[in-house]
Amino acid sequence: MRHQKMKGLILSGGKGTRMRPLTYTSAKQLIPVANKPVLVYGIEAIVAAGIQDIAIIVSPETGPEIRENIGDGSRFGANIHYIEQDAPRGLAHAVLTAEDFLRDSPFVMYLGDNLLQHGITPLVEEYRSIDCNSEILLTRVPNPSQFGVAELDANGRVLKLTEKPPEPKSDLALVGVYMFDEHIFEAAKAIKPSQRGELEITDAIQWLLDNGFTVHPHIVKGWWKDTGKIEDMLEANRTVLDTFERDVRGTITDDSSIEGKVVIEPGAQIIDSVVRGPAIIGADARIVHAYVGPYTSIGNKCSVERCEIENSIVLENSSLSHVAGRIEASLIGKNVKIGRTHRKPVAYRFMVGDNSEVGIT
Ligand code: G1P
Repeated sequence: MRHQKMKGLILSGGKGTRMRPLTYTSAKQLIPVANKPVLVYGIEAIVAAGIQDIAIIVSPETGPEIRENIGDGSRFGANIHYIEQDAPRGLAHAVLTAEDFLRDSPFVMYLGDNLLQHGITPLVEEYRSIDCNSEILLTRVPNPSQFGVAELDANGRVLKLTEKPPEPKSDLALVGVYMFDEHIFEAAKAIKPSQRGELEITDAIQWLLDNGFTVHPHIVKGWWKDTGKIEDMLEANRTVLDTFERDVRGTITDDSSIEGKVVIEPGAQIIDSVVRGPAIIGADARIVHAYVGPYTSIGNKCSVERCEIENSIVLENSSLSHVAGRIEASLIGKNVKIGRTHRKPVAYRFMVGDNSEVGIT
């Protein structure tokens, strides 16, 4: 049993290119799932596993926003430090960037855009109780070539790890949570950048295997999501909303109907509307003559008026009004306005940022 105190390392420096345009103005790890930033799920999971000393790796672009939102960690029961990585040079490079902070303790490394249904407490306990240098998490996926992939032998030991192989030898993907001792620094210093020019953590773990260190694989039960793309965000949102219990506050007029697992936060107003769960309506939002359908998260201070929306995420302070067709599978940023205009000629009018997507039937 390892009695040493463990530390946590959360990687939150990625640019989030697959989530543009939202990531032009915001860090992808702060995009909310069920009205809570993805990054907060990671912090809470680490704290729940008994780890308080956490460093978050940020980029120069996203650092200030992440610090402002997350703070010193006291509200999560953690001490959070921030470490800047000058450029996205890979996950193993991020580990080296945090070497001074991590050197004296084994640590759990958590990719800031990952979500795990059962958290990480059992994994951290397992790592503490067995004698290994590293523990990795694996799960079966239909599209392994988009991840790091593990090959195991007949006894379940790790044979080989390959980053995004075009022809994967198994369907076991590396989940973005890893546990390491100090040997990972030696590994990260020994490897060379991959084809995408990054120091891959997958290669560093392969180096551990090649040099006689032990890497224990743990197959994750329960769902795991890597929220890199809009489809993943919507799926994560559906999955998290499904776990919610009904909790209705705010003001609801008699002509409204709140059906199923719905969370309505304080200060929200539901006027002549139907909210059908699983759904969450943020604090001080206004839903007026509208329908909010299953798997929808409406952010704080949003307004939805004479619209129908489902299976979508709307970030805070946005307003949707008088949209004739139902809004579906949409991710709408902060302070967005979608509504009717009375200007002539009668036409659609867009002011849409770079790399946005608008679908019209
Ligand atoms: C990273 C890792 C990959 C892992 C994935 C999990 O990929 O390199 O091995 O399977 O996270 O989220 P990236 O998201 O950097 O493409």
